[in-house]
Amino acid sequence: MKLTVFNGSPRGKESNTAILLEHFLNGFMETEGNSYELEYIVNNKDVGKLVEMFKDVGNVILAFPLYIDCMPGIVKSFIDNLKSLCGRQDNPTIGFMVQGGFPEAYHSRFVERYLEKLAKRLNCQYAGCIVKGGIEGIRVMPQFMTKKTFNYFYELGKIYGKSGKFDEELLKRLAKPEHLSALRRLFFRFASSIGMAHVYWNKQLKENNAFEERFDKPYMR
Ligand SMILES: Cc1cc2nc3c(=O)[nH]c(=O)nc-3n(C[C@H](O)[C@H](O)[C@H](O)COP(=O)(O)O)c2cc1C
Repeated sequence: MKLTVFNGSPRGKESNTAILLEHFLNGFMETEGNSYELEYIVNNKDVGKLVEMFKDVGNVILAFPLYIDCMPGIVKSFIDNLKSLCGRQDNPTIGFMVQGGFPEAYHSRFVERYLEKLAKRLNCQYAGCIVKGGIEGIRVMPQFMTKKTFNYFYELGKIYGKSGKFDEELLKRLAKPEHLSALRRLFFRFASSIGMAHVYWNKQLKENNAFEERFDKPYMR
């Protein structure tokens, strides 16, 4: 199987998306004869080239982080540029991978519904959507905490490499928790009330000189 993978994270090669894709693709390559091309949307000033890549292959995976319950702007722009391919015969089979920072998979179910609809509009066969929350910390987590998740991605890639589909049972197991338990919700409420839940993101805002602007509303007069 020939596959083209688009990594839609604005962090490009340094992204969590890249880490998860690496495990998925290791599994995918277990099947003899499989090959893939991996493209980073963020590095591409020429969207026309990305559209050509999409057009010319049998199988596509579009992977991106959940941003504000949806997708990064570069992914939206890429999708907008696929408009000319809507309804075309011979469009590729398409699968998606959405991962987010908040732990609940439910958070990504709305964009998942949109993605299935997008596949239909493009006249692409839909291979499914991998959804996983709680991913932001994976770069700093010890190996024992990430092993299970990485293994799921590897197994999903392996089955996809053989069948061209995501395994439904694995998708369900990987996505857990779909919703937080009452106890974890209580913990988050407590962590928010004492400011603990904001420590990590505030650090990111400061590193990007955006902390003072965090409550800005640029579209409001
Ligand atoms: C601007 C921005 C918006 C985000 N919005 C969400 C969100 O709505 N829900 C969520 O679960 N995570 C959200 N996140 C967290 C990212 O999805 C998460 O950190 C992801 O693992 C980043 O992946 P990447 O390294 O591949 O870009 C957001 C992050 C940023 C920077």
